[in-house]
Amino acid sequence: MSGADYVADGTQFVERLKHALGTDMVLSGEAVEKYCRDWHGDVTTGAVAVLRPRSTGEVSTAVRACVALGLSIVPQGGNTGLVLGATPDHPADQVVISLERMTRIRRIDPDDFSAVVEAGCILSDFKDAVAHAGMFFPLALGAQGSCQIGGNVSTNAGGINVLRYGMTRELVLGLEVVLSDGSVFDGLSTLRKDNRGIDLKQIFIGAEGTLGIVTAVSVKLMPEPEQIATALLGLNSLNDAIKLFRRARRDCCDLMSAFEFMPTLAFVLAREAMPDLVMPMSDDYPAYVLLEISGSGLVDIGDLMERFLGAVMEEGLVTDGVIARSAAQARNLWLFREGMNEGQAKRGPHLRTDVSVPLSRLADFVRDAEKAVTERLPDCICVSYGHVGDGNVHLNVLPPGDLPRAEIDASIYRAKNAINAVLDAYEGSISAEHGIGRLKKSDYSARLPAVRRKLLTALKVAIDPSIVMNPGCQFDFEQHS
Ligand code: FAD
Ligand code: LAC
Ligand code: ZN
Repeated sequence: MSGADYVADGTQFVERLKHALGTDMVLSGEAVEKYCRDWHGDVTTGAVAVLRPRSTGEVSTAVRACVALGLSIVPQGGNTGLVLGATPDHPADQVVISLERMTRIRRIDPDDFSAVVEAGCILSDFKDAVAHAGMFFPLALGAQGSCQIGGNVSTNAGGINVLRYGMTRELVLGLEVVLSDGSVFDGLSTLRKDNRGIDLKQIFIGAEGTLGIVTAVSVKLMPEPEQIATALLGLNSLNDAIKLFRRARRDCCDLMSAFEFMPTLAFVLAREAMPDLVMPMSDDYPAYVLLEISGSGLVDIGDLMERFLGAVMEEGLVTDGVIARSAAQARNLWLFREGMNEGQAKRGPHLRTDVSVPLSRLADFVRDAEKAVTERLPDCICVSYGHVGDGNVHLNVLPPGDLPRAEIDASIYRAKNAINAVLDAYEGSISAEHGIGRLKKSDYSARLPAVRRKLLTALKVAIDPSIVMNPGCQFDFEQHS
């Protein structure tokens, strides 16, 4: 039976899917709604059905069933991606395959410093299990209570520990992936060194589900940091924050694990989302840094933090600072950084960017981009924050909340174009860590050099010639079969 027979009637698809896969695997009707809404609730789409396999074999069977019906597939993890990669855009012929029931940790091996985990395992559950085994998995981001390992791999997620441990790519040892013909790429090795030809797993990392469905991942583990020192510092400017970062890299013996920049507004936004948060400092400063130093073994992390802060405060680089005296106090400091995302979401639709430039140009870039926005949109508020040590900033723009939706959307569009024009002049990236998804597709495509476009097309044609996997995400490929 060809797919065309079913295009007119979604319920027939659902019946066929249930027949092929069993009713337990298939969600339809109202049950699909929550899988078709993005994290902010800005966009709600739809899908023929949501399939929830429990094993790699079931993913493979589900893929074959979709292909047989002429349906395409949107793989979905925790649906926390911020660029609409996991939400369908063709409800009439797209099926979401959610990995949420593949949560097993297959192995934690402290002797090899490695683990094998299924794609649907929530990141924080995995981190907890690893910690229980006396080890540490360093990937850390605000969405870690909801995002999944498979989503992290598929977006090559960054987060707050990149400056010490690298992006997700650097933590992956191997992958298991179901391809669009239902076959399984079995690359779940835990070898640290393996130069047998081209490293195929790399093409699936950051592919945002366009080349296959990641079903399991083998990862590197680290020794658990036994000592963690966390401090919130008040400074005069982003420029000083970047100077401080350079000092910390030199003076903190490679033990710095996080360096997050926040403006004053971060505290207001965080408390709009979490009103019970206790302000850590009595005065306001133009710029803040959340600094974390951590280590295990024979170092004195607390002493290192005290001495480092003593020196930079004496020099006037840092104006004020609080060092957390307990894990609870450290958590309270981090809640400001995490809460500011929720605070922005509460203010309604806004522009979220995720850009990077070389560290040496970051402060100039933020100055120029914020100026470009405020000149054009004086009523909008710019909020620039994030992983500045990586040269990565989220320069977000909040339009006044009381505008009609069409005007808000117009402001978001104008602000995005103003920022991207400055970014292009700085030769930066429009996506430092969130990926392209559907949201950034046109901006990405407009900037794709011909040879890169040719290589990407060749890869897609070779691996997913019928464009079954996440069509409409990242790039519009032409069908080749
Ligand atoms: P989803 O959103 O479900 O999917 C993301 C993409 O991957 C989609 O294209 C989807 O099709 C694909 N995909 C998902 N699972 C699979 C799979 N098993 N196989 C194949 N393709 C798959 N990101 C950062 O990098 N750094 C941050 O600091 C950060 N902070 C965040 C804070 C908040 C509050 C929120 C809401 C998001 C944040 N993000 C951050 C973005 C997001 O959490 C990450 O991109 C995360 O890796 C997405 O994982 P997920 O499981 O939610 O994936
Ligand atoms: C963060 C997300 C937005 O850094 O990437 O909070
Ligand atoms: Zn981020």
